Amino acid sequence: MSEARLFMNFINGEFVPSLGGKTFERRNPADTADVVGIFQDSNADDVEAAVTAAKAAYATWRKVPAPRRGEILLRAADLLLARKDRYSHDLTREMGKPLFEAGGDIVEAIGMAQYAGSEGRRMHGVTTPSELPNKFQMSMRQPIGVIGMITPWNFPMAIASWKMLPALVCGNTVVIKPGEDASISTFNLVECLVEAGLPPGVVNIVTGHGPSAGQPLVEHPDVPVLSFTGSTEVGRLVYELGARQIKRVSLEMGGKNPLIVMDDADLDLVEQGVVWAAFGTTGQRCTATSRVIVHRKVAATLIERLVARAQALRVGNGLHPATEMGPLVNEAQLERVLGYIEVGKAEGATLCCGGNRLTEGSYANGWFVQPTIFTGVRPTMRIAREEIFGPVLSVIEVESLDEALAVANDVAYGLSSSIYTRDINAAYRAMHELEAGIVYINAPTIGAEIHLPFGGVKATGNGHREAGPTMLDVFSEWKSVYVDYSGSLQRAQIDNAD
Ligand code: UN1
Repeated sequence: MSEARLFMNFINGEFVPSLGGKTFERRNPADTADVVGIFQDSNADDVEAAVTAAKAAYATWRKVPAPRRGEILLRAADLLLARKDRYSHDLTREMGKPLFEAGGDIVEAIGMAQYAGSEGRRMHGVTTPSELPNKFQMSMRQPIGVIGMITPWNFPMAIASWKMLPALVCGNTVVIKPGEDASISTFNLVECLVEAGLPPGVVNIVTGHGPSAGQPLVEHPDVPVLSFTGSTEVGRLVYELGARQIKRVSLEMGGKNPLIVMDDADLDLVEQGVVWAAFGTTGQRCTATSRVIVHRKVAATLIERLVARAQALRVGNGLHPATEMGPLVNEAQLERVLGYIEVGKAEGATLCCGGNRLTEGSYANGWFVQPTIFTGVRPTMRIAREEIFGPVLSVIEVESLDEALAVANDVAYGLSSSIYTRDINAAYRAMHELEAGIVYINAPTIGAEIHLPFGGVKATGNGHREAGPTMLDVFSEWKSVYVDYSGSLQRAQIDNAD
């Protein structure tokens, strides 16, 4: 067990305590005797100080040439790579996922630092011909200002990087409030950026809770853009509050991701894919497979195989190299998941495996639950419709591709989706008809790469895509410029009218 570190807020390049003098502690969810950090319980005054610093830094950062901004990100990528093991250890200890998965979180940040850093040399605008002679016109990207970011604990470094790095390369400055259950990873990311040459005030970290630290950031008049990843419930509030000040609000929220298995699917592939997509990160990912929609002809075989795999998963402290599934992030999350398991039983679904909290021996001090599979689930049940955010998989049987697609789409969310089939026509139909921002063919619903747009439809999002080339649209503003070099008054639309 390592010692608990004291973390200050990071404002204007300095580590400072909260002006309210309050702190909170974070304990390892696999072993609550292990205090992993003590953090500032920030308030509106801290947010004010952070926004003031970010606003002042914006005046100069926006003028740093984009390729130079990008170079800082590229240097940060190298630092992240060199520190991957240490940062993975911090991430596992603060939020519980096994070390190998934590490493994936760091790798996403490295990928984003490389991708966004390189974007400093592109940041393309457009030129278009004019209706008039001797007139030139173009549209170019401009930064917007101070971006407010609220990030979740489930991918604490990856998601912070998806937001922060494109915002920075576009020339904005940042105030970020990380999820209170996993703040260390944000400090680690910013540590690399600062060592890579990021000037003071360009990124500021304010730790704490939603109502006391998140809401003042959302409502601050000098923060024109908000980027939020988290629950649909909180996202709706952020959207409402942002709308009052006509802010740009980029939201990435819940999922209830379907994985369709047709009767011609390669069941070896399905079995491996489902196990990691349903139980990886203890099911606490917005791209997790939470519904397997399987053709009746292969359902019994698949269920038998999935249950065997789920029961064999090694649950434990993520710091132990053999662990395959860690704990849930906190007690509230445990209660929520156990609550949904009771709902599933009460609704008449069949509990095939799991369903219990683990409390014996080394599990005694952690928020552990067994990998859980329900079969005989009907699409109308709550466990088939609501986001559980835990290792609980619902298996729904169908008779045809038509029925599978209808069931897949009959939920409020639309983030990720998947179909396993060897029939190319079925695959193409699914690709077009699944109501989701992401579709996988013969692969599970997880594993998005940072250089493709990431986000969802329906209650999952509001149209923004924070990865891929579209990330620039979230964090920059278009400006159209007309240059008339004719030396005379030329009037488009009027002089050209026929
Ligand atoms: C999330 O669950 O919030 O595709 C992000 C994936 C990961 C990112 C998940 N690359 O599952």
